[in-house]
Amino acid sequence: MQLPIAAISDQCDLDFPVERDLDRAWELGLFYLRTPDSLDLEAARQFGRELIATDSPYRRVPHFGELEGFIALENNQQTKLALRRERWAQHYPKQITAFGRKLDTIGIAIIREVFRQSGIPEVLWDRASGGYASGGGDAFLNFVHYDTRTSDWGLRPHTDYGFVTILDASAPGLQIEISGEFEDVPVMPGHLIINFGEALNFITAYSDRAVSAVTHRVVSQRSTDPVRHGVVYFANPDLDGMLWQFDASGEERGSSSVQDLFALLEQKLTR
Ligand SMILES: [Fe+2]
Repeated sequence: MQLPIAAISDQCDLDFPVERDLDRAWELGLFYLRTPDSLDLEAARQFGRELIATDSPYRRVPHFGELEGFIALENNQQTKLALRRERWAQHYPKQITAFGRKLDTIGIAIIREVFRQSGIPEVLWDRASGGYASGGGDAFLNFVHYDTRTSDWGLRPHTDYGFVTILDASAPGLQIEISGEFEDVPVMPGHLIINFGEALNFITAYSDRAVSAVTHRVVSQRSTDPVRHGVVYFANPDLDGMLWQFDASGEERGSSSVQDLFALLEQKLTR
């Protein structure tokens, strides 16, 4: 299976060299993005790998609520360091904060292209996305590790709740659901993996071009390096904000508080 491939142009636009790939990406809810030259991915990977050392000072980053801080989950293979945009400057090294800011610009470029394709008038993009389209909203930059020596699922099948997820994976294991079957998303050197989430599906639902939130999972496996590293960025709406559904004529068709939408998704997940 050939997965779609995009790049970010010098003008910061999302660009699909093969035209058909845009259609496929919107249908699948996933595509590869050529890693921009200006993105210091190696520094981020190195930072992630160093978190494995038990004496890493970053393992002492405290918890902020359930989602942030250095987190070791007991029920699966995952440990992670997760922080919201507001805390990057305080807790991440400078270089990593700069890396996160760069991912912000990529996330914005992607969501703006989604809006452009949707036909929703540009004046409404900001409101529809709870501010993300213009640099607001909520963003996470997480460093995730799956220890493949523990036998368990890496991550069970799910959709992401937010707008856009940007993933740099060091080893295979990611699979997406296509027509009821799970298929591998191979690691493609020089490329990030982008996938769309539920909030983006929600805000484009009545537009000319809705995007799919892709169901995906991470399977457990033995690799030569037993620890699978990942750098993940989540572009999300503000948790206490609103999302709006507009059609291409600018007519409002629906809305939801972010909390209500996420609670609904949670219900579906546990059903
Ligand atoms: Fe996910």
